[in-house]
Amino acid sequence: MTDQFLNDLLKKMTTEEKVAQLMQLATPFFKGASNSGEITGPMVNMNITDELVENTGSVLGAWGAAEIKAIQERHLKDNRLGIPLLMMADVIHGYRTIFPVPLAIGSSWDLELAEKSAQIAAKEAAVAGIHVTFAPMVDLVRDPRWGRVMESTGEDPYLNGEFARVQVRGFQGKNLKDDMEALAACVKHFAAYGAAEGGRDYNTVNMSERDLREYYLPAYKAALDAGSEMVMTAFNTVDGIPATGNKKLMRDLLREEWGFDGVLISDWGAVKEMIPHGIAANEKEAAEKAIKAGLDIEMMTTTYASHLKELIEEGKVDGSLLNEAVMRILELKDKLGLFENPYRGADEEREKELLLSEEHRNTAKELAAKSCVLLKNEHVLPLKKEQKVALVGPFAEGKDILGPWSFLGSTDEAITVKAGMEQKLGEKVKVAKGSDIEAGEGTDLEQAINIANEADVIVLALGEASEMSGEAGSRTNIKLPDAQLKLVEEISKLGKPTVAVLFNGRPLDLQGVIDKTDAVLEAWFPGTEGGAAIADLLYGDVNPSGKLTMSFPQNVGQVPVYYNHFNTGRPKGAPDAQIRYVSQYLDSPNSPLFPFGYGLSYTTYAYDQFSLSANTLHAGETLTAQVNVTNTGKVAGDEIVQLYIQDKVGEVVRPLKELKGFEKIHLGPGESKTVEFTITEEQLRYHHADLSLTSDPGEFTVYVGPSSAEVQEQTFELV
Ligand code: BGC
Repeated sequence: MTDQFLNDLLKKMTTEEKVAQLMQLATPFFKGASNSGEITGPMVNMNITDELVENTGSVLGAWGAAEIKAIQERHLKDNRLGIPLLMMADVIHGYRTIFPVPLAIGSSWDLELAEKSAQIAAKEAAVAGIHVTFAPMVDLVRDPRWGRVMESTGEDPYLNGEFARVQVRGFQGKNLKDDMEALAACVKHFAAYGAAEGGRDYNTVNMSERDLREYYLPAYKAALDAGSEMVMTAFNTVDGIPATGNKKLMRDLLREEWGFDGVLISDWGAVKEMIPHGIAANEKEAAEKAIKAGLDIEMMTTTYASHLKELIEEGKVDGSLLNEAVMRILELKDKLGLFENPYRGADEEREKELLLSEEHRNTAKELAAKSCVLLKNEHVLPLKKEQKVALVGPFAEGKDILGPWSFLGSTDEAITVKAGMEQKLGEKVKVAKGSDIEAGEGTDLEQAINIANEADVIVLALGEASEMSGEAGSRTNIKLPDAQLKLVEEISKLGKPTVAVLFNGRPLDLQGVIDKTDAVLEAWFPGTEGGAAIADLLYGDVNPSGKLTMSFPQNVGQVPVYYNHFNTGRPKGAPDAQIRYVSQYLDSPNSPLFPFGYGLSYTTYAYDQFSLSANTLHAGETLTAQVNVTNTGKVAGDEIVQLYIQDKVGEVVRPLKELKGFEKIHLGPGESKTVEFTITEEQLRYHHADLSLTSDPGEFTVYVGPSSAEVQEQTFELV
């Protein structure tokens, strides 16, 4: 449609109609809906009139082509100006075909496959009638107590930015108007939600603007540079002001500085939450703060609907703010082609063809296999088909492996470890649960010990229930539940080769598992095809290649522990360090149990001939780092070659290492490849005390290696 059309439409709208465009309500409020669902939270006691619903701008959480068409059809009958609804939902790691959780996808370091998974998720959701997904979630995470770490790709700003970029591209395709099987993306949660104090969900975030810009903002920016149509605000405060009422974040930074002109939506109920946060006395003040700060859509509370008109009439809010917000929403509807075709991609026939198609399942399986990280392997894996296996643990036949936010994914459709192993072996596998996930210690323990006694090798399938992570899934104890630790203990007493396969949404404290088993495969929540992918890895049909993108702590007391930390003035292990008065714990090492970038394979790789093309770099020129990587083992594998840089002396303290590049290469047995990285002055820039983004001349160390902790180094000078 033309600008003229949208301008004319805006002129025809009454203030009430405009205000209602800024409202997002869940499906049960709409007359055409049959999935009535439950109305919960702040909506329960709100006065939602028929008139408000008829003019509402967007729907939260509707799904299914038939359902969405019915809602839209009814809405268009009721809506005076025939303005179609926007259908938004949380399609995070799949719609019906469920991919591994994002933290697992991060561990694949496979941008191409991550993009493909987003594309498939978009396709399935778009033919089911959805227009916008509340993804990608790109919050940088350093605290595994926070349940939502599973929604992020990890602790590194650069890597998160890379994943943000490809996910947006995967969801949105090339052109939302022509591509009916793409979705608009909504990057979230702006900003710094990942830094909630103590890992407690919805908690305060407090950090300097420099840290915000240096570590937390780059991934949101990358998503916007890739064209994300929307941004969702976070629940938390940033420097004392809730993100949803934070003018500095929204108007000054997002709109002015970054030039974002898409739609800004609050998180669920977050406008009204400014009252308990204590920056608004009542709903009217909350509405005033949110609109002034730049928020367009209010999700699931009605402060705008109840008070914006009055605020404008009283002269407290400029009417132009309302017009601008409405225009942005109309523009998004137009970009999605909704004025031409309000039903867009919704198509029951395509739904039947696409949802959970073989092709989609195959991609889910490939990504699941690439997302698993082999943490330990002492001569047990890969298993041999002739070995007698006992499969023990709550996840042996457990189907809760899709993880939080798995939309229409059904656990019934998930391939369990047992099913995956039986598919491969063509025979029954001996199984015993041995323990429930949490309670019920001792369930079936005797049976587990019996079958384990008869086996050559024991596979323990252990983990967290999906609701133990995700939103509102914070934990102070990040070990496996006691019941499972007891099971591990009992099984380990048999002295047989034992492999643990772990299902979880966060880095765990693995004491009690890592020391009592011979091999540990971190499978995360691997999605629909999880068990099939795991069987491929256990039997060596696929060689593990995933590497951690979030450090695994030695214990919860070490948290936060992350690789790109500072040296401090009293670093442990320095040549002149004292014994006691150094930055350390008396009862724990400083280093994590498993660092960022770590993961084993069934083969080994040698890194040699690491060199730089010069020992100086001039701005505007480039430097090449080269390293030769050889597969020194007997099987083919994928290796993730990592490049880190350290700025030796900065104006402000600089991290000991920062990821600046990586390459995933395939090497046959005995094969070598030379991997090249280009280093530019731009990569060396950081936010100075005055927040300027510049580099400092001087010495830099370049590291390459298979993980952040196992590196070779070279130095150069920036002149
Ligand atoms: C979550 C968001 C999500 C929204 C809508 C909120 O509780 O924080 O990530 O997009 O709900 O479902």
